[in-house]
Amino acid sequence: MKVLSSILSTAIICASTSFVYAQEGTTTQTASAPSSYSCDPATCKPSNNCLCASSNPPNGLDPKETPQFVVITFDDSVQDALYGTAQQMLNVTNPNGCKAKGTWYVSMQYTDFSLVQQWYAQGNEIADHTFTHVGTPSAQEISSAKSMLHEYGGIPLNKIQGFRAPFLNYTAETLKQLSQQQFSYDSSSSASSESDLFWPYTLDYGMANDCWTGICNPGLKLPGFWEFPMYAVMNNASVPQLMDVYLSGSPEDVTKWSLDAFNKHYNGGRQPFGIYVHPTHLSSYPGLPDPKPLMDGVINLIKNLSETKDVWVVSNQQLLAWMKNPVKASEMANQPYMKCEKPVLPSEICNGLDDNNSGGIDDSLLNNCNFGTSNFKTCFNCPSGAPSVSSPTPGSSTQNGTAGYRYPVPASCDPTWWDPIGNKCFCDASATNCNYKNMAVATNKTTNGNGTTSDATSVMTTLPLGQIIASMCVALLWETFSYSR
Ligand SMILES: *[C@@H]1O[C@H](CO)[C@@H](O)[C@H](O)[C@H]1NC(C)=O
Ligand SMILES: *[C@@H]1O[C@H](CO)[C@@H](O)[C@H](O)[C@H]1NC(C)=O
Ligand SMILES: *[C@@H]1O[C@H](CO)[C@@H](O)[C@H](O)[C@H]1NC(C)=O
Ligand SMILES: *[C@@H]1O[C@H](CO)[C@@H](O)[C@H](O)[C@H]1NC(C)=O
Ligand SMILES: *[C@@H]1O[C@H](CO)[C@@H](O)[C@H](O)[C@H]1NC(C)=O
Ligand SMILES: *[C@@H]1O[C@H](CO)[C@@H](O)[C@H](O)[C@H]1NC(C)=O
Ligand SMILES: *[C@@H]1O[C@H](CO)[C@@H](O)[C@H](O)[C@H]1NC(C)=O
Ligand SMILES: *[C@@H]1O[C@H](CO)[C@@H](O)[C@H](O)[C@H]1NC(C)=O
Ligand SMILES: [Zn+2]
Repeated sequence: MKVLSSILSTAIICASTSFVYAQEGTTTQTASAPSSYSCDPATCKPSNNCLCASSNPPNGLDPKETPQFVVITFDDSVQDALYGTAQQMLNVTNPNGCKAKGTWYVSMQYTDFSLVQQWYAQGNEIADHTFTHVGTPSAQEISSAKSMLHEYGGIPLNKIQGFRAPFLNYTAETLKQLSQQQFSYDSSSSASSESDLFWPYTLDYGMANDCWTGICNPGLKLPGFWEFPMYAVMNNASVPQLMDVYLSGSPEDVTKWSLDAFNKHYNGGRQPFGIYVHPTHLSSYPGLPDPKPLMDGVINLIKNLSETKDVWVVSNQQLLAWMKNPVKASEMANQPYMKCEKPVLPSEICNGLDDNNSGGIDDSLLNNCNFGTSNFKTCFNCPSGAPSVSSPTPGSSTQNGTAGYRYPVPASCDPTWWDPIGNKCFCDASATNCNYKNMAVATNKTTNGNGTTSDATSVMTTLPLGQIIASMCVALLWETFSYSR
């Protein structure tokens, strides 16, 4: 009852402020061809970490031999219920028997960093969506989120490569900041017509999407920095839908529009296809409409796509690895970045995985950090005060050498092998006995390669059932109402 009233009062606040904010990327503008863009593929080549915007696959690959990538992305805070929704959406298998992977663009407020770590430990991508979820973010909004994902989620700094601007509201300055802060790519722009249906490309010759905003000004050149356009789906009135397409019509209509768009990519230049969601709309909350019909529609669409020949459901970072070294669909299964392996450990350590197969992840090993609106669990030390944009990682509440201290992941150790309590790396450069379990399962999909393994192993994890905490609903409802009304 207490929880419910808190939700309702929050809902009212949210509903009344929602008019102030633009919907976060729900629809976009139909683009015209970028007239100012000019890039010569003879000089701009993958071997120089350069790629021109193009609707054809890189390196002259024949579209029929090119993998059809599908990226599923999740935006905003990572919380129990949202995490469960994301897991259900990725519950399909790639042709090599590994589970589909996704990308989460994480904003900091209300995020549970133990779930950030679990997401990453399962091979998914963690990316930056600012600290407070503001459009046209400052340098500090971008850097503070990265620091927190590293400090409390244990994500190596060099594995946080992607960014998406809140409300997709980015400028040339945002892109420059990202490049300066060592990000590899941005994914805030939209590809909304046949004239800008480009594969990801580097900004050596500037932007070729969203040109109607003036962003394609030739003054903006960021060598080696990538743009991953977001691919729109046309509704039956030819309005491009970008995010949360399932909110724009009945599940039947949305599925039809989505398959039509997908087929344009699949039968055309095999440009990646995207499903971009705010998992809030697809998660159950007391007092809100049952999202099951929407969720069923999305899941059936994802299953349908994943059963299509040569489709790989990947994180944007996996797609980036492919962009840097494009191979045929028949060679995908053997690419190292497509593998799915789990460390085999003697007992449970706080690494985001269920190491002792008890059905729980990091059972009883997590710290609880409570600071009003920033309550989160973590395998690492709690800060001594609430993190803020200007001080995202205040000093630890526990000192090195005292009981309960958690040791940060050293750069030499992958976080899935690191025991932050025991201060031990179970597989570092000097270790010879790193033991992995292949998580691939048998599938009937043909890869024309050597991908599918027959020694199928169990499904990787059972998710802990989350409880809805009143405070977390604040963020959820803010997003829900501001986006759907
Ligand atoms: C994944 O799919 C399997 C089989 O359809 C089902 O048993 C399982 O509960 C699903 N897991 C999630 C997280 O949705
Ligand atoms: C987007 O950015 C512009 C320019 O900085 C700003 O005026 C506008 O309020 C922003 N919109 C949102 C929704 O953040
Ligand atoms: C689009 O489909 C809806 C039903 O889903 C229908 O009401 C509407 O008239 C259609 N619009 C166009 C332009 O065909
Ligand atoms: C996906 O759905 C479409 C339309 O219902 C159907 O024609 C197609 O065969 C389906 N694809 C797969 C692989 O099930
Ligand atoms: C797994 O590890 C946790 C945490 O150390 C422990 O509480 C639990 O008893 C272990 N379960 C099994 C089955 O070993
Ligand atoms: C903790 O203290 C030990 C001993 O003083 C030192 O060697 C180690 O580098 C410190 N570790 C961290 C993470 O501060
Ligand atoms: C593969 O195909 C066989 C025969 O059609 C079927 O019995 C089996 O269940 C399928 N396996 C999977 C993992 O889909
Ligand atoms: C399968 O792997 C073997 C050894 O790695 C290689 O020689 C062979 O060409 C591969 N076959 C295909 C179809 O990729
Ligand atoms: Zn957002």
